Amino acid sequence: MDIHTTISGLRSRLAAARAAGQRIAFVPTMGYLHEGHLGLVDVAREEADLVVMSIFVNPLQFQPGEDFERYPRDYAHDRALAEARHVDILFVPELGEMYGSADQTRVVPGEASVRWEGEYRPGHFDGVLTVVAKLLNIVQPNVLVLGQKDIQQVTVIRRMLIELDWSVRLRVVPTSREADGLARSSRNVYLSAEERVAALALSRSLRAVEAAFERGERRADALRQVAHEVLEAAPDLITDYIAVADPERLAPVERVDIGTVVAVAGRVGATRLIDNVILGDEDV
Ligand code: PAF
Repeated sequence: MDIHTTISGLRSRLAAARAAGQRIAFVPTMGYLHEGHLGLVDVAREEADLVVMSIFVNPLQFQPGEDFERYPRDYAHDRALAEARHVDILFVPELGEMYGSADQTRVVPGEASVRWEGEYRPGHFDGVLTVVAKLLNIVQPNVLVLGQKDIQQVTVIRRMLIELDWSVRLRVVPTSREADGLARSSRNVYLSAEERVAALALSRSLRAVEAAFERGERRADALRQVAHEVLEAAPDLITDYIAVADPERLAPVERVDIGTVVAVAGRVGATRLIDNVILGDEDV
């Protein structure tokens, strides 16, 4: 595995690969890798000759008071996991390499960013789009591989790719889950054993919504109520939102269909967790 810490070094390496006709798939991450990230690597491998992964905890996407400082980091472990999963190139830039002194420009998302996470984390998606745009310019991949768990992130990035005419293909990989249904997340490390039990209500609520959909329920309000009842019954979980939304722009819908997104977010102690399902998919 090649490791690069500079933009220029990575660019030269990738220019040579491109000149040799190699297709590039890119997996951006903030590190503290788990099986969810490594599953993205497997999909990237199906898509291309060369798999590039980045590890960069992007300060722009954290709001003041969020967990940027304490976000879990373990570079040695990440490096070993990436190598064992046959990542070809690991890009691990320092903060100064990514933002230098010219930290003023932002990529501002549209309507798809306003609700849900956007309400709880104002400015978050400006930070995400800005770093993803930079990383895409640096790597210039043929395929970008993202996890469905961050469904609103996927949606705003997809809008950026479409609306700013990027020629990169987006491949979205279903959420990776623990055996008990908990969506894998680097932030799960914050949870105590009791909090982890409370957190399971998120995936349980989505399973209940899927079951109601399969029984024929098509009213968004009724599905929201199904999720609400499961979440409300969980002690120690504070629900932030239950979104029943269209997959293109994440606007709320009144009636659902195959492809409608149901996303939930909640807080357990100091930890904020998100999860979602796409109705008609079998992924919770
Ligand atoms: O999903 C993440 O880990 C981050 O938001 C991303 C896409 C790597 C941008 O920092």
